[in-house]
Amino acid sequence: TRGGGGAGGGGGWRRVLVFPLPFQGHINPMLQLAGALHGRDGLSVTVLHTGFNALDPSLHPELAFAEVPDGVPPDVAAAGSIVEIIHAMNAAMEGESSPTSTSVRDVLASLVAADEGKPPVACLIIDANLLAVQKAAASLGLPTLVLRTGSAACFSCFLAYPMLHEKRYMPPKESRLYEPVKELPPLRIRDLFYSGPANHEMIRQVLARATETVRNSDGLVINTFDELEPAELERICGELDVAVVLAAGPLHKLSPVDYAGRSSLLRQDHSCMEWLDTQATGSVLYVSFGSLASMDSDEFLEVAGALHSSGHPFLWVVRPDLVRGSHTTTSTRWPDGFERAVEEGRGKVIQWAPQQQVLAHHAVGGFWTHAGWNSTLESISEGVPMICRPQFADQMMNTRYVQEAWGVGFELEGELKRGEIERAIRKLMGEEGADMRERTDELRRKVAGCLESGGSSQVALDNLVKYIASL
Ligand code: UDX
Repeated sequence: TRGGGGAGGGGGWRRVLVFPLPFQGHINPMLQLAGALHGRDGLSVTVLHTGFNALDPSLHPELAFAEVPDGVPPDVAAAGSIVEIIHAMNAAMEGESSPTSTSVRDVLASLVAADEGKPPVACLIIDANLLAVQKAAASLGLPTLVLRTGSAACFSCFLAYPMLHEKRYMPPKESRLYEPVKELPPLRIRDLFYSGPANHEMIRQVLARATETVRNSDGLVINTFDELEPAELERICGELDVAVVLAAGPLHKLSPVDYAGRSSLLRQDHSCMEWLDTQATGSVLYVSFGSLASMDSDEFLEVAGALHSSGHPFLWVVRPDLVRGSHTTTSTRWPDGFERAVEEGRGKVIQWAPQQQVLAHHAVGGFWTHAGWNSTLESISEGVPMICRPQFADQMMNTRYVQEAWGVGFELEGELKRGEIERAIRKLMGEEGADMRERTDELRRKVAGCLESGGSSQVALDNLVKYIASL
């Protein structure tokens, strides 16, 4: 990663505006970055947020908040995929503000307006998916930095998209999914955002928009660290012509401890912590599929059955909307014996966990995840090996890196069936997982190293603070 020193511009009373994409996996890293910046060298932070997935200012009394119109039609907000909602937000925000509704530009203008009572605004940090917001900031002469909430590997695939298209890797063909992308090892075509033939054009637009946002920006912050993705960061620095590229992650480790809990859209159920205290070290399998991944009811029963018969204690996050087409709080059918196992304390089911505290607990010995980037990074940070069951977006490539590049987990492939799941659990939690645990602990030590003073992520954060002061 490079740059960030910035000429002159030492500490001094400055305000930073941040605008996350309103989804849990994007809100957490942006609020963690806000927490890492707030109070450093006189910086104070204002969080811009939408009505859709609105944040609760009372949970962050030290930060200021400003709501902006998101323009997401109610039916899209209710049923739309993350890609459709991103599309709708940008379309609405690019439109001129009508006399009645204030536009994101008006909100920015009022925040930027000089006011002797408040520190001058240095810049706006946006999610890469908010190109329309960047245009509004540019029209006000406000510098923008971009936070990429995914891995460096993921963003380097965004940059490589034209090549992938030219060499006919994209759009992906069912018959070539397991073909290696030789320019981007260890990825195969299937690992490149493939989630069914349907909405490839929409995905292409999301990638193109995010790449344009970064290219137009005054700098890029990535939630990863130098030792985890050296080649990918090198590739990005070589291809991007922005002033700074800073790998300042894992951000959840750089901000005050309880930031993630406070940016949680679902209430985290801390009762699981007492249950974990009753379990032997390294004995528990933690199972959670992030905020968006889902499964059908047959798969749900296979998972429940396997967790029950695996013989390992488990902590399972069953979000109300985990099962497609039903609400798990009202109509959950459990396989025989499952509820008794829970009553006898061999398992625990909650709707939403304090995930970072869970992964840091000594009783947790393995993590069955969908391989969202935050979950992957959080697991690596605590030295917990993974079973990965990816579904969409960057989850396939995260899985590929976990298995092939870092050797700290493996993919559970094929249909979700009780037998295969049990085999995977035994492989992760039993003797077979010993060398994986060794490699995971080695990576945990590397995370600790980058966070020490003088470590690469601390230096990146210091450079970011200096750079902001120079804007
Ligand atoms: C989404 C995409 O799915 C993912 O692929 C992309 O990398 C980021 O955006 P999400 O699916 O929510 O993210 O998964 P993830 O990236 O793992 O983020 C989930 C966040 O919620 C994590 O920070 C995790 O700590 C938190 N979480 C998850 C909880 O606090 N409690 C839970 O029970 C589960």
